[in-house]
Amino acid sequence: MKLTLTALTALSIFAALVSMAHGQQSGESMGRGRGRGRGRGRGHGHGSGETTTMSPYSCFTRDDGTCDDDGENTCPCPTGFYRCAGRCYTAVTEALFYDAAAERCASLGAHLATPRSAEENNCTAIPALTLPNVFWIGFRGNSSEGAYLGEDGCGPVGNFSSWPSGVEPNPVDNWCVHFGIVLHEIIWAELQCDRGLFLAVCQLDGCYRPDCL
Ligand SMILES: *[C@@H]1O[C@H](CO)[C@@H](O)[C@H](O)[C@H]1NC(C)=O
Ligand SMILES: *[C@@H]1O[C@H](CO)[C@@H](O)[C@H](O)[C@H]1NC(C)=O
Ligand SMILES: *[C@@H]1O[C@H](CO)[C@@H](O)[C@H](O)[C@H]1NC(C)=O
Repeated sequence: MKLTLTALTALSIFAALVSMAHGQQSGESMGRGRGRGRGRGRGHGHGSGETTTMSPYSCFTRDDGTCDDDGENTCPCPTGFYRCAGRCYTAVTEALFYDAAAERCASLGAHLATPRSAEENNCTAIPALTLPNVFWIGFRGNSSEGAYLGEDGCGPVGNFSSWPSGVEPNPVDNWCVHFGIVLHEIIWAELQCDRGLFLAVCQLDGCYRPDCL
């Protein structure tokens, strides 16, 4: 990623600083011997549970019938949600810690958004186009799994991720993933779940209609 500080907005600088801060922290962690190498082995390796082998596309492709054509809209989402790439999303526009943001999504029958593809990542970032800010998404670090696990129950961050190039994530307990848009790129970053007061994006489990773009 080519960053020129002069071109960044204040918020983008914030997002970039957050990811740099954690870059440093990762270095410390590795110094203490609980770093990246071990994490990666546990997260993507040999059978530490079905979560690690499950395809991100194998779950939450559920059409529960609540979003059928209502006569006016062939692809409705519940009020306040927007449709994108088959799913229904909504933004939490209040700055909250991760757990509170997750509860807010749960109160809407949703969970924090878990982009599993570039397309879903773009869908998740739509609120950031009009609310230039930083948003929690639904991936929480888990030291024993050595991975960021999705709030969708589909296991760790898999083939798709959106970390800035050169940044190795360090998924440990109580660290969570957020994103910002930096120079038109969606950049994921890590922070302690109870340190960042960020907006958030929620995603519905039901209402999945692949024909609804
Ligand atoms: C990664 O992608 C490959 C090919 O697209 C797919 O076969 C595999 O199941 C994916 N891995 C995970 C963990 O989803
Ligand atoms: C995501 O958005 C970017 C920027 O608009 C675009 O270049 C890219 O093709 C999009 N990716 C997908 C999979 O839609
Ligand atoms: C980590 O994931 C395992 C399941 O793989 C779960 O049992 C455990 O509670 C998680 N740890 C934390 C701190 O969330």
